Amino acid sequence: MKSNIIVCKNHQEASLRAAELTSDVIARTPHLTATFAAGNTPLDCYRELLRRQKEEGLLLDRARYIGLDEWVGLGPNDAGSCFAIMNPNYYLPADIPVENIYAFDGLTSNLDVEAARMQETLSRYPLDLAVLGIGVNGHVGFNEPGIPTTGDFSLVSLSESTQTVGRKYFAGNSTPTEGATITLQALKRAKTVVIIATGANKREAVSTILSGSDQLPAGAFLDHPGAIYVLDEDAAGQEKR
Ligand code: GLP
Repeated sequence: MKSNIIVCKNHQEASLRAAELTSDVIARTPHLTATFAAGNTPLDCYRELLRRQKEEGLLLDRARYIGLDEWVGLGPNDAGSCFAIMNPNYYLPADIPVENIYAFDGLTSNLDVEAARMQETLSRYPLDLAVLGIGVNGHVGFNEPGIPTTGDFSLVSLSESTQTVGRKYFAGNSTPTEGATITLQALKRAKTVVIIATGANKREAVSTILSGSDQLPAGAFLDHPGAIYVLDEDAAGQEKR
């Protein structure tokens, strides 16, 4: 197995390990620009970062955060939007000043202008750190398999799989069909990338990635010198020890 792949016993251990790697970068980078994935997987990692902030003085609030992705048609206050997940689980409890959070507004009346604003933000503040999850179909952010993106920030038609899986966030309401995302191209320029995948529902995507195939967007970091995949045994398809 490649050296930039860590397999932890379970989700909790993977979350702690990811938080350790992330906090090392946060602690040593004064003017950090980061992007943190929404979704369920990294939430325990964020909880550990918040604990380290409270108990060990980790300086989460001096960094700048650029939202990884958003569902088109959903705003910051809409349940299930990426911002609505990040805000109560990280930005608010970490006391991140609003002027240090840059997020795509899925309710914008002009998608192209809003995407251009995000593109400009990424040019002004290149990413130092990305904490990412993996979709069941192997996507990262909303970089979908086989769907090309352009530039550093892109609008994307969401795959059937993403729409189906996404229903878990929307409590019966219809799932958006379009997304907006930081592209792989921009994510790959981040100096440190921590990719977390836990649970058996990620096993198929993880196994394709571990086979060295570059078919899936989440496999794009295998040769990145600063990327680390943090898996649990369920996602890695390993027998329980
Ligand atoms: C979502 C998001 C991703 C997220 C991924 C996995 O659709 N667009 O940013 O990382 O899919 O989500 P989860 O961690 O809930 O499995």
